[in-house]
Amino acid sequence: MKTLLDELTLRISAVFEKAGYDGRYGKVTLSNRPDLCEFQCNGAMAAAKEYKKAPVMIAGDVAAALEGEQIFIEVSAVAPGFLNLKISKEFLVEYLSQMAGADKYGLNTFDIPKKIVVDYGGPNVAKPLHVGHLRSAIIGEAVKRICRYMGNDVTGDIHLGDWGLQMGLIMTELRKRKPYLSYFDPDFSGEYPEEAPFSMEELEDIYPAASARSKEDEEYKNEAMNDTFLIQQGEPGHVALWQQIMNVSIPDLKKNYDKLNVSFELWKGESDAKPYIAEMVEGMKSGGYAYESDGALVVDIKEDTDTKEVPPCMILKSDGASLYTTTDLATLVDRRKNIDPDKLIYIADKRQEMHFMQVFRCAKKTGVVDKDTELDFLGFGTMNGKDGKPFKTREGGVMRLETLLDEIDEEMYRKIRDNHEVDEEEARATAKIVALAAIKYGDLSNQATKDYIFDIDKFTSFEGNTGPYILYTIVRIKSILNKFTESGGDVKSAGLREAVNETDKALILELVKFGQVIEGAYEELAPHKICSYIYDVANAFNSFYHENRILGEEDKSRQEGWIALLGLTKELLETCIELLGFYAPDRM
Ligand code: ARG
Repeated sequence: MKTLLDELTLRISAVFEKAGYDGRYGKVTLSNRPDLCEFQCNGAMAAAKEYKKAPVMIAGDVAAALEGEQIFIEVSAVAPGFLNLKISKEFLVEYLSQMAGADKYGLNTFDIPKKIVVDYGGPNVAKPLHVGHLRSAIIGEAVKRICRYMGNDVTGDIHLGDWGLQMGLIMTELRKRKPYLSYFDPDFSGEYPEEAPFSMEELEDIYPAASARSKEDEEYKNEAMNDTFLIQQGEPGHVALWQQIMNVSIPDLKKNYDKLNVSFELWKGESDAKPYIAEMVEGMKSGGYAYESDGALVVDIKEDTDTKEVPPCMILKSDGASLYTTTDLATLVDRRKNIDPDKLIYIADKRQEMHFMQVFRCAKKTGVVDKDTELDFLGFGTMNGKDGKPFKTREGGVMRLETLLDEIDEEMYRKIRDNHEVDEEEARATAKIVALAAIKYGDLSNQATKDYIFDIDKFTSFEGNTGPYILYTIVRIKSILNKFTESGGDVKSAGLREAVNETDKALILELVKFGQVIEGAYEELAPHKICSYIYDVANAFNSFYHENRILGEEDKSRQEGWIALLGLTKELLETCIELLGFYAPDRM
Protein backbone atom coordinates (compact mmCIF):
# COMPACT_ATOMS: atom_id res chain seq x y z
CA MET A 1 0.00 0.00 0.00
CA LYS A 2 1.14 3.54 -0.62
CA THR A 3 1.84 5.55 2.50
CA LEU A 4 -0.79 8.20 3.09
CA LEU A 5 1.61 10.99 2.11
CA ASP A 6 2.54 9.21 -1.10
CA GLU A 7 -1.12 8.65 -1.86
CA LEU A 8 -1.91 12.33 -1.32
CA THR A 9 1.16 13.41 -3.29
CA LEU A 10 0.02 11.30 -6.19
CA ARG A 11 -3.36 12.95 -6.19
CA ILE A 12 -2.09 16.48 -5.78
CA SER A 13 0.50 15.92 -8.51
CA ALA A 14 -2.28 14.93 -10.87
CA VAL A 15 -4.10 18.14 -9.99
CA PHE A 16 -0.96 20.23 -10.63
CA GLU A 17 -0.91 18.67 -14.09
CA LYS A 18 -4.58 19.28 -14.61
CA ALA A 19 -3.93 22.94 -13.80
CA GLY A 20 -1.10 23.05 -16.34
CA TYR A 21 1.94 22.65 -14.06
CA ASP A 22 4.50 19.95 -13.72
CA GLY A 23 3.33 17.12 -11.45
CA ARG A 24 6.63 16.95 -9.59
CA TYR A 25 5.61 20.02 -7.61
CA GLY A 26 2.77 18.16 -5.94
CA LYS A 27 4.64 16.82 -2.93
CA VAL A 28 2.41 16.70 0.15
CA THR A 29 3.79 16.86 3.69
CA LEU A 30 2.34 16.95 7.17
CA SER A 31 1.23 20.41 8.09
CA ASN A 32 3.45 22.73 10.12
CA ARG A 33 0.29 24.37 11.38
CA PRO A 34 -1.93 21.56 12.62
CA ASP A 35 -4.27 24.24 13.98
CA LEU A 36 -5.09 25.28 10.40
CA CYS A 37 -4.90 22.10 8.38
CA GLU A 38 -3.60 18.55 8.46
CA PHE A 39 -1.49 18.48 5.31
CA GLN A 40 0.16 20.99 3.10
CA CYS A 41 1.89 21.30 -0.25
CA ASN A 42 4.62 23.88 -0.78
CA GLY A 43 5.20 23.03 -4.44
CA ALA A 44 3.85 26.34 -5.73
CA MET A 45 6.84 28.15 -4.21
CA ALA A 46 9.30 26.04 -6.19
CA ALA A 47 7.13 26.14 -9.32
CA ALA A 48 7.10 29.95 -9.23
CA LYS A 49 10.64 30.09 -10.60
CA GLU A 50 9.92 27.82 -13.51
CA TYR A 51 6.64 29.48 -14.47
CA LYS A 52 7.65 33.03 -13.55
CA LYS A 53 4.38 33.50 -11.71
CA ALA A 54 3.55 34.46 -8.14
CA PRO A 55 3.43 31.30 -6.01
CA VAL A 56 0.08 32.20 -4.54
CA MET A 57 -1.40 32.36 -8.06
CA ILE A 58 -0.13 28.89 -8.82
CA ALA A 59 -1.46 27.65 -5.48
CA GLY A 60 -4.76 29.31 -6.37
CA ASP A 61 -4.91 27.56 -9.74
CA VAL A 62 -4.29 24.22 -8.09
CA ALA A 63 -6.87 24.89 -5.40
CA ALA A 64 -9.41 25.72 -8.12
CA ALA A 65 -8.57 22.55 -10.02
CA LEU A 66 -9.07 20.60 -6.80
CA GLU A 67 -12.69 21.67 -6.69
CA GLY A 68 -14.86 18.61 -6.49
CA GLU A 69 -12.10 16.28 -5.24
CA GLN A 70 -13.90 14.27 -2.58
CA ILE A 71 -10.87 13.57 -0.45
CA PHE A 72 -10.43 17.13 0.81
CA ILE A 73 -13.01 19.03 2.74
CA GLU A 74 -11.12 22.26 2.52
CA VAL A 75 -8.36 23.50 0.28
CA SER A 76 -6.94 26.96 0.55
CA ALA A 77 -4.15 28.82 -1.17
CA VAL A 78 -2.52 31.11 1.35
CA ALA A 79 0.26 33.66 1.08
CA PRO A 80 3.03 33.41 0.12
CA GLY A 81 1.98 30.25 -1.75
CA PHE A 82 1.10 27.36 0.49
CA LEU A 83 -1.70 24.97 -0.20
CA ASN A 84 -3.43 24.05 3.02
CA LEU A 85 -5.29 20.78 2.90
CA LYS A 86 -7.95 19.42 5.19
CA ILE A 87 -8.77 15.82 4.56
CA SER A 88 -12.19 14.22 4.60
CA LYS A 89 -13.16 11.73 7.28
CA GLU A 90 -14.50 9.32 4.66
CA PHE A 91 -11.20 9.17 2.90
CA LEU A 92 -9.30 8.64 6.15
CA VAL A 93 -11.56 5.86 7.30
CA GLU A 94 -11.37 4.22 3.90
CA TYR A 95 -7.58 4.35 4.06
CA LEU A 96 -7.53 2.95 7.60
CA SER A 97 -9.87 0.12 6.61
CA GLN A 98 -7.50 -0.84 3.82
CA MET A 99 -4.64 -0.78 6.30
CA ALA A 100 -6.57 -3.00 8.70
CA GLY A 101 -7.16 -5.57 6.00
CA ALA A 102 -3.63 -5.59 4.58
CA ASP A 103 -0.62 -7.64 5.57
CA LYS A 104 1.50 -5.68 8.07
CA TYR A 105 -1.03 -2.85 7.85
CA GLY A 106 -0.05 -2.14 4.28
CA LEU A 107 3.62 -1.55 5.00
CA ASN A 108 5.80 -1.58 1.87
CA THR A 109 8.10 -4.42 2.70
CA PHE A 110 10.93 -5.57 0.45
CA ASP A 111 10.04 -8.19 -2.14
CA ILE A 112 13.68 -9.10 -2.47
CA PRO A 113 14.98 -9.29 1.08
CA LYS A 114 18.42 -7.97 1.84
CA LYS A 115 20.73 -10.11 3.90
CA ILE A 116 21.58 -7.96 6.88
CA VAL A 117 23.92 -8.59 9.81
CA VAL A 118 23.33 -6.50 12.91
CA ASP A 119 26.41 -6.47 15.16
CA TYR A 120 25.30 -5.40 18.62
CA GLY A 121 25.61 -6.14 22.30
CA GLY A 122 29.38 -6.52 22.15
CA PRO A 123 29.91 -7.44 25.82
CA ASN A 124 33.39 -8.33 26.95
CA VAL A 125 33.52 -11.83 28.35
CA ALA A 126 34.32 -12.09 32.07
CA LYS A 127 33.91 -8.38 32.63
CA PRO A 128 30.55 -7.71 34.23
CA LEU A 129 27.99 -6.18 31.89
CA HIS A 130 27.68 -2.51 32.60
CA VAL A 131 25.25 0.17 31.53
CA GLY A 132 27.37 1.07 28.51
CA HIS A 133 26.43 -2.28 27.03
CA LEU A 134 22.80 -1.64 27.80
CA ARG A 135 22.39 0.87 25.01
CA SER A 136 23.96 -1.36 22.39
CA ALA A 137 21.64 -4.19 23.39
CA ILE A 138 18.49 -2.08 23.47
CA ILE A 139 19.10 -0.13 20.28
CA GLY A 140 20.50 -3.12 18.41
CA GLU A 141 17.55 -5.32 19.26
CA ALA A 142 15.12 -2.66 18.02
CA VAL A 143 17.10 -2.05 14.83
CA LYS A 144 17.22 -5.78 14.16
CA ARG A 145 13.47 -6.17 14.63
CA ILE A 146 12.71 -3.18 12.41
CA CYS A 147 14.98 -4.49 9.63
CA ARG A 148 13.27 -7.86 9.86
CA TYR A 149 9.76 -6.44 9.88
CA MET A 150 10.62 -4.64 6.65
CA GLY A 151 11.01 -8.07 5.09
CA ASN A 152 14.77 -8.54 5.26
CA ASP A 153 16.74 -11.63 6.20
CA VAL A 154 18.46 -10.48 9.38
CA THR A 155 21.08 -12.08 11.61
CA GLY A 156 21.99 -10.58 14.97
CA ASP A 157 25.52 -11.31 16.13
CA ILE A 158 26.63 -10.47 19.66
CA HIS A 159 30.30 -10.21 18.67
CA LEU A 160 31.75 -11.03 22.07
CA GLY A 161 34.91 -9.34 23.21
CA ASP A 162 36.59 -12.63 24.00
CA TRP A 163 40.08 -12.13 22.68
CA GLY A 164 41.55 -9.24 24.53
CA LEU A 165 43.75 -8.48 27.49
CA GLN A 166 40.95 -9.17 29.98
CA MET A 167 41.29 -12.89 29.24
CA GLY A 168 45.03 -12.77 29.95
CA LEU A 169 44.46 -10.75 33.12
CA ILE A 170 42.10 -13.37 34.46
CA MET A 171 44.63 -16.11 33.82
CA THR A 172 47.44 -14.22 35.53
CA GLU A 173 45.31 -13.54 38.58
CA LEU A 174 44.11 -17.12 38.71
CA ARG A 175 47.71 -18.33 38.60
CA LYS A 176 48.43 -16.24 41.69
CA ARG A 177 45.41 -17.64 43.48
CA LYS A 178 45.56 -21.25 42.33
CA PRO A 179 49.06 -21.96 41.03
CA TYR A 180 48.55 -25.72 41.33
CA LEU A 181 46.00 -25.89 38.48
CA SER A 182 47.03 -28.17 35.64
CA TYR A 183 46.35 -25.39 33.10
CA PHE A 184 49.47 -23.62 34.32
CA ASP A 185 51.74 -26.63 34.04
CA PRO A 186 53.48 -26.45 30.65
CA ASP A 187 54.44 -30.13 30.92
CA PHE A 188 50.96 -31.34 31.65
CA SER A 189 49.85 -33.83 29.03
CA GLY A 190 46.65 -35.33 30.45
CA GLU A 191 43.04 -34.27 30.02
CA TYR A 192 42.12 -30.94 31.58
CA PRO A 193 39.27 -31.18 34.09
CA GLU A 194 35.72 -30.84 32.82
CA GLU A 195 34.69 -28.62 35.65
CA ALA A 196 35.70 -24.96 35.60
CA PRO A 197 38.16 -23.94 38.35
CA PHE A 198 35.96 -20.95 39.32
CA SER A 199 32.34 -19.87 39.61
CA MET A 200 30.83 -16.81 37.97
CA GLU A 201 30.98 -14.98 41.32
CA GLU A 202 34.71 -15.70 41.58
CA LEU A 203 35.24 -14.63 38.01
CA GLU A 204 33.54 -11.35 38.74
CA ASP A 205 35.88 -10.83 41.62
CA ILE A 206 38.98 -11.89 39.69
CA TYR A 207 38.72 -9.48 36.79
CA PRO A 208 38.49 -6.19 38.72
CA ALA A 209 41.25 -7.35 41.08
CA ALA A 210 43.51 -8.22 38.15
CA SER A 211 42.72 -5.05 36.29
CA ALA A 212 43.51 -2.90 39.33
CA ARG A 213 46.74 -4.69 40.07
CA SER A 214 47.98 -4.51 36.48
CA LYS A 215 47.72 -0.73 36.64
CA GLU A 216 50.21 -0.59 39.48
CA ASP A 217 52.40 -3.59 38.89
CA GLU A 218 54.39 -3.54 35.66
CA GLU A 219 55.59 -7.12 36.01
CA TYR A 220 52.08 -8.36 36.60
CA LYS A 221 50.88 -6.51 33.54
CA ASN A 222 53.61 -8.07 31.40
CA GLU A 223 52.60 -11.46 32.65
CA ALA A 224 49.01 -10.77 31.66
CA MET A 225 50.12 -9.60 28.22
CA ASN A 226 52.12 -12.76 27.83
CA ASP A 227 49.13 -14.85 28.85
CA THR A 228 47.04 -13.02 26.29
CA PHE A 229 49.69 -13.73 23.68
CA LEU A 230 49.73 -17.43 24.62
CA ILE A 231 45.96 -17.69 24.29
CA GLN A 232 46.19 -16.17 20.84
CA GLN A 233 49.08 -18.51 19.95
CA GLY A 234 46.96 -21.51 20.95
CA GLU A 235 49.03 -22.84 23.89
CA PRO A 236 46.93 -25.86 25.07
CA GLY A 237 46.64 -24.97 28.79
CA HIS A 238 45.69 -21.40 27.92
CA VAL A 239 43.19 -22.47 25.33
CA ALA A 240 41.58 -24.91 27.78
CA LEU A 241 41.34 -22.26 30.46
CA TRP A 242 40.02 -19.73 27.97
CA GLN A 243 37.29 -22.22 27.11
CA GLN A 244 36.42 -22.52 30.80
CA ILE A 245 36.06 -18.76 31.12
CA MET A 246 33.71 -18.87 28.14
CA ASN A 247 31.73 -21.80 29.55
CA VAL A 248 31.09 -19.97 32.79
CA SER A 249 30.48 -16.50 31.33
CA ILE A 250 28.18 -17.24 28.44
CA PRO A 251 25.25 -18.71 30.43
CA ASP A 252 25.50 -15.70 32.71
CA LEU A 253 25.41 -13.30 29.76
CA LYS A 254 22.46 -15.18 28.30
CA LYS A 255 20.57 -14.81 31.54
CA ASN A 256 21.13 -11.06 31.53
CA TYR A 257 20.13 -10.61 27.90
CA ASP A 258 17.04 -12.74 28.51
CA LYS A 259 15.96 -10.31 31.18
CA LEU A 260 16.30 -7.55 28.62
CA ASN A 261 14.26 -9.50 26.08
CA VAL A 262 17.29 -9.42 23.80
CA SER A 263 18.44 -12.47 21.87
CA PHE A 264 21.09 -13.16 19.29
CA GLU A 265 21.07 -15.58 16.39
CA LEU A 266 24.84 -15.81 16.54
CA TRP A 267 27.08 -15.93 19.58
CA LYS A 268 30.32 -15.44 17.75
CA GLY A 269 33.19 -13.39 19.07
CA GLU A 270 36.43 -11.73 18.19
CA SER A 271 38.19 -15.08 18.63
CA ASP A 272 36.22 -16.54 15.73
CA ALA A 273 38.03 -14.17 13.41
CA LYS A 274 41.39 -15.70 14.20
CA PRO A 275 41.46 -18.39 11.48
CA TYR A 276 41.00 -15.68 8.82
CA ILE A 277 43.67 -13.27 9.93
CA ALA A 278 46.81 -14.74 8.34
CA GLU A 279 45.34 -15.15 4.88
CA MET A 280 43.67 -11.75 5.01
CA VAL A 281 46.94 -10.06 5.97
CA GLU A 282 48.76 -11.90 3.18
CA GLY A 283 46.17 -10.67 0.71
CA MET A 284 46.58 -7.09 1.87
CA LYS A 285 50.32 -7.36 1.44
CA SER A 286 50.33 -9.07 -1.94
CA GLY A 287 47.65 -6.69 -3.20
CA GLY A 288 50.04 -3.85 -2.45
CA TYR A 289 47.74 -2.27 0.16
CA ALA A 290 49.56 -3.00 3.40
CA TYR A 291 53.04 -1.69 4.08
CA GLU A 292 55.37 -1.44 7.05
CA SER A 293 55.53 1.72 9.04
CA ASP A 294 57.62 1.88 12.24
CA GLY A 295 57.55 -1.91 12.28
CA ALA A 296 53.75 -2.08 12.22
CA LEU A 297 51.71 -3.15 9.23
CA VAL A 298 49.31 -0.44 8.00
CA VAL A 299 46.94 0.40 5.14
CA ASP A 300 46.42 3.98 4.01
CA ILE A 301 42.78 4.96 3.95
CA LYS A 302 42.92 8.72 3.42
CA GLU A 303 40.54 10.13 0.85
CA ASP A 304 40.84 13.37 -1.12
CA THR A 305 37.64 14.73 0.32
CA ASP A 306 38.70 14.29 3.95
CA THR A 307 38.53 17.49 5.93
CA LYS A 308 40.35 16.08 8.92
CA GLU A 309 43.38 13.89 9.35
CA VAL A 310 42.56 10.21 8.89
CA PRO A 311 45.40 8.06 10.21
CA PRO A 312 46.33 4.82 8.41
CA CYS A 313 44.53 1.69 9.54
CA MET A 314 46.84 -0.49 11.61
CA ILE A 315 46.59 -4.18 10.74
CA LEU A 316 49.35 -5.72 12.89
CA LYS A 317 51.43 -4.30 15.71
CA SER A 318 55.20 -4.39 15.48
CA ASP A 319 55.26 -7.60 17.56
CA GLY A 320 52.87 -9.19 15.08
CA ALA A 321 49.91 -9.03 17.47
CA SER A 322 46.50 -8.33 16.01
CA LEU A 323 44.33 -5.39 17.06
CA TYR A 324 40.67 -4.46 17.39
CA THR A 325 40.69 -3.38 13.71
CA THR A 326 42.28 -6.69 12.69
CA THR A 327 39.57 -8.78 14.32
CA ASP A 328 36.81 -6.59 12.91
CA LEU A 329 38.26 -6.89 9.40
CA ALA A 330 38.74 -10.64 9.72
CA THR A 331 35.19 -10.94 11.08
CA LEU A 332 34.04 -9.38 7.82
CA VAL A 333 35.89 -12.16 5.97
CA ASP A 334 34.09 -14.71 8.14
CA ARG A 335 30.69 -13.09 7.58
CA ARG A 336 31.19 -12.86 3.87
CA LYS A 337 32.12 -16.53 3.69
CA ASN A 338 29.31 -17.80 5.90
CA ILE A 339 26.49 -15.30 5.41
CA ASP A 340 27.42 -13.10 2.44
CA PRO A 341 25.44 -10.08 3.69
CA ASP A 342 24.34 -7.14 1.51
CA LYS A 343 24.45 -4.87 4.50
CA LEU A 344 26.08 -4.79 7.95
CA ILE A 345 24.99 -2.52 10.77
CA TYR A 346 27.27 -2.01 13.77
CA ILE A 347 25.90 -0.58 16.99
CA ALA A 348 28.52 0.73 19.41
CA ASP A 349 29.48 3.79 21.41
CA LYS A 350 29.87 6.80 19.11
CA ARG A 351 33.42 7.27 20.40
CA GLN A 352 34.26 4.28 18.24
CA GLU A 353 33.38 6.18 15.10
CA MET A 354 36.98 6.50 13.89
CA HIS A 355 37.57 2.81 14.45
CA PHE A 356 34.62 1.89 12.26
CA MET A 357 35.51 4.43 9.60
CA GLN A 358 38.95 2.83 9.40
CA VAL A 359 37.55 -0.68 9.26
CA PHE A 360 34.98 0.22 6.60
CA ARG A 361 37.40 2.07 4.37
CA CYS A 362 40.07 -0.55 4.71
CA ALA A 363 37.60 -3.36 3.99
CA LYS A 364 36.38 -1.67 0.80
CA LYS A 365 39.82 -0.69 -0.38
CA THR A 366 41.41 -4.09 0.12
CA GLY A 367 38.45 -6.06 -1.19
CA VAL A 368 37.58 -7.68 2.14
CA VAL A 369 34.00 -6.79 1.17
CA ASP A 370 32.44 -6.05 -2.23
CA LYS A 371 32.26 -2.46 -3.35
CA ASP A 372 28.48 -2.43 -3.01
CA THR A 373 28.26 -4.02 0.43
CA GLU A 374 26.60 -1.46 2.70
CA LEU A 375 28.51 -0.80 5.91
CA ASP A 376 26.66 1.26 8.50
CA PHE A 377 27.75 2.43 11.90
CA LEU A 378 25.13 3.57 14.39
CA GLY A 379 27.07 5.27 17.16
CA PHE A 380 25.17 5.99 20.35
CA GLY A 381 25.75 8.64 22.97
CA THR A 382 26.47 8.23 26.66
CA MET A 383 23.88 7.38 29.26
CA ASN A 384 24.37 9.99 31.96
CA GLY A 385 23.14 10.30 35.51
CA LYS A 386 21.06 13.22 36.73
CA ASP A 387 24.28 15.13 37.35
CA GLY A 388 24.99 15.03 33.63
CA LYS A 389 28.01 12.78 34.12
CA PRO A 390 28.28 9.14 32.96
CA PHE A 391 25.92 7.00 34.98
CA LYS A 392 27.40 5.64 38.19
CA THR A 393 26.24 3.86 41.33
CA ARG A 394 25.42 5.97 44.39
CA GLU A 395 28.88 5.14 45.65
CA GLY A 396 30.40 6.41 42.43
CA GLY A 397 31.38 3.04 40.99
CA VAL A 398 30.53 1.54 37.62
CA MET A 399 26.89 0.52 37.68
CA ARG A 400 26.36 -3.10 36.88
CA LEU A 401 23.53 -3.83 34.56
CA GLU A 402 21.95 -6.35 36.90
CA THR A 403 21.91 -3.88 39.76
CA LEU A 404 20.30 -1.26 37.58
CA LEU A 405 17.61 -3.64 36.38
CA ASP A 406 16.86 -4.73 39.94
CA GLU A 407 16.53 -1.13 41.08
CA ILE A 408 14.04 -0.35 38.37
CA ASP A 409 12.06 -3.53 38.99
CA GLU A 410 11.86 -2.55 42.63
CA GLU A 411 10.73 1.00 41.88
CA MET A 412 8.08 -0.22 39.46
CA TYR A 413 6.87 -2.78 41.97
CA ARG A 414 6.50 -0.07 44.59
CA LYS A 415 4.47 2.11 42.22
CA ILE A 416 2.20 -0.73 41.20
CA ARG A 417 1.57 -1.70 44.83
CA ASP A 418 0.84 1.92 45.71
CA ASN A 419 -1.70 2.23 42.93
CA HIS A 420 -3.75 -0.89 43.42
CA GLU A 421 -4.76 -3.77 45.50
CA VAL A 422 -2.94 -6.54 43.67
CA ASP A 423 -1.51 -9.74 44.91
CA GLU A 424 2.21 -9.84 45.47
CA GLU A 425 3.02 -12.36 42.77
CA GLU A 426 1.08 -10.58 40.06
CA ALA A 427 2.54 -7.23 41.07
CA ARG A 428 6.07 -8.63 40.84
CA ALA A 429 5.45 -10.11 37.42
CA THR A 430 3.82 -6.94 36.13
CA ALA A 431 6.57 -4.79 37.59
CA LYS A 432 9.13 -6.69 35.51
CA ILE A 433 7.21 -6.13 32.31
CA VAL A 434 6.65 -2.44 32.98
CA ALA A 435 10.23 -1.92 34.16
CA LEU A 436 11.52 -3.32 30.88
CA ALA A 437 9.33 -0.86 28.99
CA ALA A 438 10.52 1.97 31.24
CA ILE A 439 14.19 1.31 30.50
CA LYS A 440 13.85 0.56 26.84
CA TYR A 441 11.47 3.39 26.01
CA GLY A 442 13.53 5.78 28.12
CA ASP A 443 16.52 4.93 25.97
CA LEU A 444 14.90 4.52 22.57
CA SER A 445 12.79 7.66 22.69
CA ASN A 446 15.99 9.70 22.39
CA GLN A 447 17.83 9.95 19.14
CA ALA A 448 20.48 7.24 19.50
CA THR A 449 23.46 9.50 18.75
CA LYS A 450 22.60 11.89 21.57
CA ASP A 451 23.66 11.54 25.20
CA TYR A 452 20.72 11.24 27.53
CA ILE A 453 19.97 11.41 31.21
CA PHE A 454 18.87 8.23 32.86
CA ASP A 455 16.24 9.40 35.28
CA ILE A 456 14.52 6.55 37.11
CA ASP A 457 11.72 8.74 38.46
CA LYS A 458 10.88 10.07 35.06
CA PHE A 459 11.24 6.79 33.17
CA THR A 460 9.00 4.89 35.60
CA SER A 461 6.26 7.51 35.65
CA PHE A 462 2.83 6.59 34.30
CA GLU A 463 2.46 10.04 32.85
CA GLY A 464 4.31 11.82 30.09
CA ASN A 465 6.45 10.44 27.33
CA THR A 466 7.37 7.16 29.03
CA GLY A 467 7.17 3.42 28.53
CA PRO A 468 4.73 2.92 31.42
CA TYR A 469 2.38 5.54 29.91
CA ILE A 470 2.35 3.65 26.60
CA LEU A 471 1.67 0.35 28.38
CA TYR A 472 -0.99 1.97 30.49
CA THR A 473 -2.74 3.11 27.33
CA ILE A 474 -2.63 -0.37 25.84
CA VAL A 475 -3.95 -1.88 29.07
CA ARG A 476 -6.77 0.65 29.13
CA ILE A 477 -7.79 -0.35 25.61
CA LYS A 478 -7.59 -4.03 26.49
CA SER A 479 -9.85 -3.44 29.45
CA ILE A 480 -12.49 -1.63 27.37
CA LEU A 481 -12.42 -4.38 24.76
CA ASN A 482 -12.77 -7.02 27.49
CA LYS A 483 -15.76 -5.26 28.98
CA PHE A 484 -17.32 -5.01 25.55
CA THR A 485 -16.83 -8.74 25.05
CA GLU A 486 -18.18 -9.54 28.51
CA SER A 487 -21.36 -7.65 27.73
CA GLY A 488 -21.91 -9.85 24.70
CA GLY A 489 -20.13 -7.79 22.03
CA ASP A 490 -17.90 -9.28 19.35
CA VAL A 491 -14.71 -7.30 18.84
CA LYS A 492 -13.56 -9.32 15.83
CA SER A 493 -16.62 -8.69 13.73
CA ALA A 494 -16.77 -4.96 14.50
CA GLY A 495 -16.02 -2.90 11.39
CA LEU A 496 -14.70 0.64 11.18
CA ARG A 497 -17.31 3.33 10.67
CA GLU A 498 -17.03 6.90 9.61
CA ALA A 499 -15.39 9.11 12.21
CA VAL A 500 -18.02 11.14 14.02
CA ASN A 501 -16.11 13.92 15.70
CA GLU A 502 -12.74 15.63 15.91
CA THR A 503 -11.32 13.27 18.53
CA ASP A 504 -11.79 10.06 16.64
CA LYS A 505 -10.65 11.78 13.47
CA ALA A 506 -7.52 12.93 15.27
CA LEU A 507 -6.82 9.37 16.39
CA ILE A 508 -7.26 8.05 12.87
CA LEU A 509 -4.96 10.77 11.55
CA GLU A 510 -2.22 9.47 13.83
CA LEU A 511 -2.81 5.80 13.11
CA VAL A 512 -2.57 6.18 9.34
CA LYS A 513 1.04 7.34 9.64
CA PHE A 514 2.16 3.82 10.53
CA GLY A 515 3.73 2.85 7.19
CA GLN A 516 5.50 6.16 6.80
CA VAL A 517 6.93 5.94 10.30
CA ILE A 518 8.21 2.37 10.03
CA GLU A 519 9.82 3.06 6.64
CA GLY A 520 11.51 6.15 8.05
CA ALA A 521 12.70 4.33 11.16
CA TYR A 522 14.22 1.66 8.93
CA GLU A 523 15.88 4.00 6.46
CA GLU A 524 17.40 6.20 9.13
CA LEU A 525 17.98 3.45 11.72
CA ALA A 526 15.89 5.55 14.04
CA PRO A 527 13.77 3.67 16.59
CA HIS A 528 12.98 7.02 18.24
CA LYS A 529 10.63 7.75 15.34
CA ILE A 530 8.52 4.78 16.38
CA CYS A 531 8.51 6.11 19.95
CA SER A 532 7.20 9.51 18.83
CA TYR A 533 4.56 7.78 16.76
CA ILE A 534 3.24 5.67 19.61
CA TYR A 535 3.34 8.63 21.95
CA ASP A 536 1.20 10.64 19.52
CA VAL A 537 -1.15 7.69 19.06
CA ALA A 538 -1.43 7.19 22.83
CA ASN A 539 -2.18 10.88 23.37
CA ALA A 540 -4.76 10.93 20.59
CA PHE A 541 -6.35 7.81 22.00
CA ASN A 542 -6.51 9.20 25.52
CA SER A 543 -8.15 12.44 24.34
CA PHE A 544 -10.65 10.40 22.40
CA TYR A 545 -11.28 8.21 25.43
CA HIS A 546 -11.90 11.17 27.71
CA GLU A 547 -14.24 12.86 25.24
CA ASN A 548 -16.45 9.91 24.40
CA ARG A 549 -18.36 7.33 26.36
CA ILE A 550 -17.48 4.28 24.39
CA LEU A 551 -19.13 1.53 26.39
CA GLY A 552 -22.12 3.70 27.22
CA GLU A 553 -22.75 4.74 23.60
CA GLU A 554 -26.34 4.03 22.60
CA ASP A 555 -25.96 4.16 18.86
CA LYS A 556 -24.77 0.58 18.38
CA SER A 557 -23.38 1.13 14.93
CA ARG A 558 -21.32 4.05 16.15
CA GLN A 559 -20.15 2.02 19.13
CA GLU A 560 -19.09 -0.83 16.89
CA GLY A 561 -17.04 1.55 14.76
CA TRP A 562 -15.29 2.82 17.85
CA ILE A 563 -14.61 -0.69 19.09
CA ALA A 564 -13.01 -1.52 15.75
CA LEU A 565 -10.96 1.65 16.01
CA LEU A 566 -9.81 0.66 19.50
CA GLY A 567 -8.93 -2.83 18.34
CA LEU A 568 -6.77 -1.42 15.59
CA THR A 569 -5.15 1.14 17.88
CA LYS A 570 -4.20 -1.66 20.24
CA GLU A 571 -2.80 -3.79 17.42
CA LEU A 572 -0.70 -0.98 16.03
CA LEU A 573 0.63 -0.01 19.45
CA GLU A 574 1.46 -3.62 20.24
CA THR A 575 3.16 -4.09 16.89
CA CYS A 576 5.29 -1.02 17.54
CA ILE A 577 6.36 -1.97 21.04
CA GLU A 578 7.24 -5.40 19.81
CA LEU A 579 9.54 -3.76 17.28
CA LEU A 580 11.07 -1.79 20.13
CA GLY A 581 11.59 -5.00 22.11
CA PHE A 582 9.07 -4.86 24.94
CA TYR A 583 5.47 -5.89 25.52
CA ALA A 584 2.38 -5.05 27.54
CA PRO A 585 0.79 -6.90 30.46
CA ASP A 586 -2.95 -7.65 30.53
CA ARG A 587 -3.51 -5.56 33.63
CA MET A 588 -1.47 -3.14 35.61
N1 ARG B 1 33.37 -5.18 22.71
C1 ARG B 1 33.34 -3.84 22.25
C2 ARG B 1 33.29 -2.86 23.45
O1 ARG B 1 32.94 -3.25 24.54
C3 ARG B 1 32.18 -3.53 21.35
C4 ARG B 1 32.12 -4.35 20.07
C5 ARG B 1 31.43 -3.63 18.95
N2 ARG B 1 31.37 -4.39 17.72
C6 ARG B 1 32.40 -4.56 16.89
N3 ARG B 1 32.26 -5.33 15.83
N4 ARG B 1 33.53 -3.95 17.07
O2 ARG B 1 33.62 -1.73 23.26
